[in-house]
Amino acid sequence: MSFLKSLFGAKEAKFVEVAPFGARFEVPQGETMLEAALKNNVPFPHNCTVGTCGSCKCKLKAGRVSALTDFGYTLSQQEIAAGFILACQAIPKDPLTQVEVESGANDSPKPEQFVGKIVATETLTHDILKITIELDRPIKFSAGQYANLKYPNIRRARNYSFADAPDRDGRKQISFFIRKVPKGAFTEDLFAGRLADVPIDVDGPHGNFHLHASAEPMICIAGGSGLAPLMSVLEDARKNRVKRPCAFLFGARTQADLYGLEQINQVAQNWADKFVFLPVLSHEPADSSWKGARGLVTQFITDAMPGIDWSKAEGYMCGPPGMIDAGIASMTEVGMNIESIFYDKFTDESHISKMP
Ligand code: FES
Repeated sequence: MSFLKSLFGAKEAKFVEVAPFGARFEVPQGETMLEAALKNNVPFPHNCTVGTCGSCKCKLKAGRVSALTDFGYTLSQQEIAAGFILACQAIPKDPLTQVEVESGANDSPKPEQFVGKIVATETLTHDILKITIELDRPIKFSAGQYANLKYPNIRRARNYSFADAPDRDGRKQISFFIRKVPKGAFTEDLFAGRLADVPIDVDGPHGNFHLHASAEPMICIAGGSGLAPLMSVLEDARKNRVKRPCAFLFGARTQADLYGLEQINQVAQNWADKFVFLPVLSHEPADSSWKGARGLVTQFITDAMPGIDWSKAEGYMCGPPGMIDAGIASMTEVGMNIESIFYDKFTDESHISKMP
């Protein structure tokens, strides 16, 4: 039989099993693992489908795959070494491939389409604005997720993380922290006040960044507008009386780039366990009044939480790709498990994971 197959070029069927969904399906020739999963109604986390966002990251447990584009563009060296792949870029090579998607990734509400209007704006820094959108009906989401925003003037949706904690019955008003991008069509319109009466299409929730159930210490790092998903996660954890030590490091260029301090302080005051907040400035003038930490935020992990068993700690990071990569390197260096490090990479105008 296999002799005949090789003679006539027939290909052996390729099957994929996905945990924790318990799904098994065939991947036809020329299709990626993600494409076949979605055709088979497997709720595989995804967004960009072109290998840039990391939403479809999963762990290869058995079998081999070939990559359409190098996984290394999006995944860190440490993740690749630990066996992580991107399903949207993976073509199975063996008759059976087994992968595992991060647990909890399938527990989020299903995305829906909403329409809303901006009902409030607040200047947070010289280049970050908080906007509040009132929707036509409440949206349910999990802390750490994001939504796609679009209006007629822009060709592609922009993607921003919810900055508030979710509400069990859904939220009709949702907020986002938005950094101004020079020549970015959306933020130019927004910062110029041209979106005041414009209906905004909101599609969401998306993404699988979320707090994992554990009592072990958690170390969070935010950079720039990456504060939004972490505030949502921390505020939600505070409301739910999550009891575990937390260190929160916020990296900014100068004092003028720090924001949300009152909100962070509220969380810190009401946290059910030890909470350390450490802002770190990378470009603060040497002769300024700043008495706090200076340098790269990812270098202060052990200062924020000395003496813990790093092999049990979890890391949560949201910010620019360079900060995330440096954070993964620092965290694994001190002994953290790569599988306990979770992140959401942001680019200038929105998440990298959110670029369609
Ligand atoms: S969906 Fe695979 S990397 Fe974005």
